[in-house]
Amino acid sequence: MSVTINVNLDHTNYPIYIGNALIENTAEILSASLSNRKVFIISDTNVSNLYLHKLENSLKKHNIVYKSIVIDAGEKTKSFQSANRICNWLLENNIERSSMLIGLGGGVIGDLTGFVASITLRGIDFIQIPTTLLSQVDSSVGGKTGINTPQGKNLIGTFFQPKAVISDSNTIETLPKRQVLAGYSEICKYGLINNFEFWCWLEKNGHLVIQGDSKYLNQAVKTSCISKAEIVKKDEKESGERALLNLGHTFAHALENELNYSDELLHGEAVSIGIILAFTLSNNLGYCSTNDVKRIANHFKKVNLRMPSSISKNMKIDNIIDNMSKDKKVKNNKITFVLVRGIGKAFLTQDVELGKLRESLESINKTF
Ligand SMILES: NC(=O)c1ccc[n+]([C@@H]2O[C@H](COP(=O)([O-])OP(=O)(O)OC[C@H]3O[C@@H](n4cnc5c(N)ncnc54)[C@H](O)[C@@H]3O)[C@@H](O)[C@H]2O)c1
Repeated sequence: MSVTINVNLDHTNYPIYIGNALIENTAEILSASLSNRKVFIISDTNVSNLYLHKLENSLKKHNIVYKSIVIDAGEKTKSFQSANRICNWLLENNIERSSMLIGLGGGVIGDLTGFVASITLRGIDFIQIPTTLLSQVDSSVGGKTGINTPQGKNLIGTFFQPKAVISDSNTIETLPKRQVLAGYSEICKYGLINNFEFWCWLEKNGHLVIQGDSKYLNQAVKTSCISKAEIVKKDEKESGERALLNLGHTFAHALENELNYSDELLHGEAVSIGIILAFTLSNNLGYCSTNDVKRIANHFKKVNLRMPSSISKNMKIDNIIDNMSKDKKVKNNKITFVLVRGIGKAFLTQDVELGKLRESLESINKTF
């Protein structure tokens, strides 16, 4: 059984299908979008071993012509080199304006496929089949595509919406626990931004989501996608409200950058630490209560999300602040922060003194 959520934007709309055993039924689910089109599948070495045959079998059953390319797994793959390789492969295989790209994998494959789709022949339709929890609740929805450069993450990219998203919760069964927890941080983010009720639900049921209980997993993915779709609908190109989705992310990107985007800290792990830092800063500035900070930290610890103490000893605060000043969201030399007036009450501000930021970063070592 699956549920469908619609992402309705001014210029387009698309469905997100959420449920079990969907990959093997891709051709049935998308029959209208795939008929009479050449399909190009992009996947990575890990995901292709597990799921590519299911997708290919489904296309074969419906006589859909396809080709597949498998690229290295990992963040380093989100590069100009990979985009170049895929573009060449598409052109050599006579891609047409009517062709369809499918990204089968986590956020790396989704961001890269979307980017390539947006620039090849000035735009080819594409479908996201996200296979990590993080990509199911976040990166596959909303149309941000991108690649990394030596200057930073996601600095080159486009806004390009997929034609559909197929979120098959069975894929989470093979996902390493560390990756599941990284995705769970992004799920928590939605409750903390503007949905107190969802946060309370997560406090009660989060462990079942993490264990992969499909009823709770599908519910969490659905609520997260609805939350993201609502925010994206109001501000697709991030001129305002969409930036709320970056709760914890200004800190997270600075930490990831300091660690050279290594496996020592996954993006979602940096996000849970960043959320704690954002709440601590909000508390130090008098916006939210100490109880709120404790409540979040308690839940994060209970479900084993990464906490600041797991990294901060090796980090130089000056470097973190310096990295934050280089964030894409810096405007007029001022860092944009997503802070909170409580759980579910996030807001944007550029009004944070560097001294207060430093104090909050220093206090973290002692508290968490
Ligand atoms: N576009 C957006 O709006 C947006 C939002 C958030 C994050 N992102 C991007 O997403 C990326 C991170 O995505 P991610 O966390 O999914 O990382 P990822 O794509 O690197 O996947 C993590 C690892 O899990 C493996 N994997 C994927 N699915 C699996 C499965 N079902 N079973 C076993 N292994 C599996 C992958 O091969 C990889 O090794 C970052 O590049 C980040 O910038 C983009």
